[in-house]
Formats: sequence, C-alpha cells, structure tokens
Amino acid sequence: MSANVAANNEAFSTWTSAMQSRIETVLDQHMPTDKIIPAHLHAAMRYATLDGGKRVRALLTYAAASFCNADSNKADAAAAAVELIHAFSLVHDDMPCMDDDDLRRGKPSTHKQYGDATALLVGDALQSLAFQLVAQDNHIQDAQKINMLHLLAVATGSRGMAGGQAIDLESTNVSLSQADLEVMHLHKTGALIHAATLLGAYSADDVSDKKIKAIDRFSKAIGLAFQVIDDVLDAESDTQTLGKTAGKDADANKSTYVTILGLNKAKALAHEFHQTAIKALSPFEQEAELLRQLANFIMRRSF
Ligand code: IPE
Ligand code: IPE
Ligand code: MG
Ligand code: MG
Ligand code: MG
Repeated sequence: MSANVAANNEAFSTWTSAMQSRIETVLDQHMPTDKIIPAHLHAAMRYATLDGGKRVRALLTYAAASFCNADSNKADAAAAAVELIHAFSLVHDDMPCMDDDDLRRGKPSTHKQYGDATALLVGDALQSLAFQLVAQDNHIQDAQKINMLHLLAVATGSRGMAGGQAIDLESTNVSLSQADLEVMHLHKTGALIHAATLLGAYSADDVSDKKIKAIDRFSKAIGLAFQVIDDVLDAESDTQTLGKTAGKDADANKSTYVTILGLNKAKALAHEFHQTAIKALSPFEQEAELLRQLANFIMRRSF
C-alpha cells in the first residue's frame, strides 16, 4: 500500500467515525424524548433509529455535500431525514406482514419489542419527522428545501422505496429475470441511496451540472452494488455478524441476486456496479475521494 493510499484510508476512517457520531447527535436532538407524550411511541421511535446501523445513507449525503463544497451543517437535516426514512422502512420491512424478521441491528425488531401496532405508527411518525426536519431547517434556503422535499418524497413513495417493496412482495415465489430484479432493486434500495447522495449536492448553494450528473450516475450504480452485497451477505454470513436473520430472503423464496444468479455471478455483478460508480467520478480528483472511499466501504462491509 502506498503512503498516499494509507493516508487516504486513515483520513476516511477518521471522517467516517466523526460523521457517524455527528448524525447520531443530530437524530438524538431532533427526536422527541421518551418523556414527551405519547411516551411509548417516542421511546419506540428512538429505539428504531438511534444507536445502530452503519449510517451509509447519511455518510453519502455528507460526502456529496463535501464534494459540492457545502458545509456539513447545511447537510445535517437532509442526512437525518434520509436516515429516518431508512429506519422507518426497516421497521415496516421486519413486520410479520412483510419479512417477519425478529432481529434488527443486533436487537429485537421494533415490533417484537413494542408490538405491531406501535411499530406501524413508528414508521408513520419517522416518515413525517423526516420531512419536518428539512422543512424547518434554517441553514438552507426555501428553494433548496423544496427541491430536497420533492426528491425525498419521490424516492420514498410508490415510484421509489415503497414501490420497490411492493415489487419485492409480489415477486415472492416467482423467479424474476435479471432485468426485473434490477428494476426492483433500483426502487427498493437504490432510490433512497440515490436521493441520499443527491440531497448532499442540493445542500450546496451552487453546483455544476457536471457534478450533478456524476453524482446521479455514481449513486445509481452504488445503490445497486449495495443491494447485491446485501443479498450476498444474507446468503453467506451469519446472524450474529449481520445483526439480522441470515438466510431470511432465500428461505422465504424471494428473488435476490444470489437466488437468481448464484453467489459467484452475484459477486461479479457487485464488482461491475462498483466499477461503474468509480468511473462516474473519474473526471474528479481529490474532491471526489470521500465518495470513492465510501463506494469501497460499501463493497467490503461485513454487515
Ligand atoms: C439494510 O440497510 C436494508 C437494505 C436496504 C438493504 P443497511 O445495511 O444500510 O442497514 P443499517 O442502516 O446499516 O442497519
Ligand atoms: C429491505 O430489503 C429494503 C427496505 C427496507 C426498503 P431487505 O429485506 O433485503 O433488507 P434486510 O436484509 O431485511 O435488511
Ligand atoms: Mg425485505
Ligand atoms: Mg428484510
Ligand atoms: Mg436483505
């Protein structure tokens, strides 16, 4: 490893820890405490959101903000919003009517801990809190907020994450083609990862079309890589390491990259998507380094 690569790796790992702790503080500060009524719902919202997860989506928002020369404080609301939407999607994803998973982020899923009805409401409340945080933020202009809210709404709804989850449910016990699988993943996981990254760009006062295009290409490809790796980990790893039930999707007869392509081809495809993401950043030098390192982090993650 060259001295430059080592220095970049060390800087990235320091930056990652700093941003993970930053987003934890932002989320903590903006979530009602469990002393505020309805206390049970607020406790459950905090349980579902705080102290867990890799915070990849927030990291993408902050890295894209830095790429576009925006201060992190302009990206805080967007980064928190995207993590809130993600946490909401996980709470619902684990419920008995969906994946029926008892374990999430190494602890009982929200519905196991608080019951199904509360878990349903946690999802509802986290989703609206996400939009509230962007709407009330005073670090960004109103025009930026409208762009952010629109982007996040589309990425969350039936043409984004919720739509992808619907395709996922419809494709249980059905063998999808690789093209259909890609459509499913572009929605279910890709939409939020794409939005998380673009939100970082939107937090800048001024950003070139060249950068927006690069972020668009980068985040679509890395969103797909992210889900292929999720499917590979589901098949190859163990419950303890993952902090969620291993083998869940294959056992439930879901269409995943591994069930459709097999492990080796799925890994090769993840590598291809990763290469596409890195290529999208090729016109840029050191300013794109955080995004490049994040793409590598997504590939080598173990949970
Ligand atoms: C898991 O996402 C669910 C998918 C969309 C594939 P993450 O692996 O980012 O989950 P956390 O936030 O780190 O727990
Ligand atoms: C979840 O996909 C996607 C969303 C929550 C939108 P998975 O069902 O594969 O996620 P895990 O494996 O349970 O985290
Ligand atoms: Mg699922
Ligand atoms: Mg699941
Ligand atoms: Mg999975």
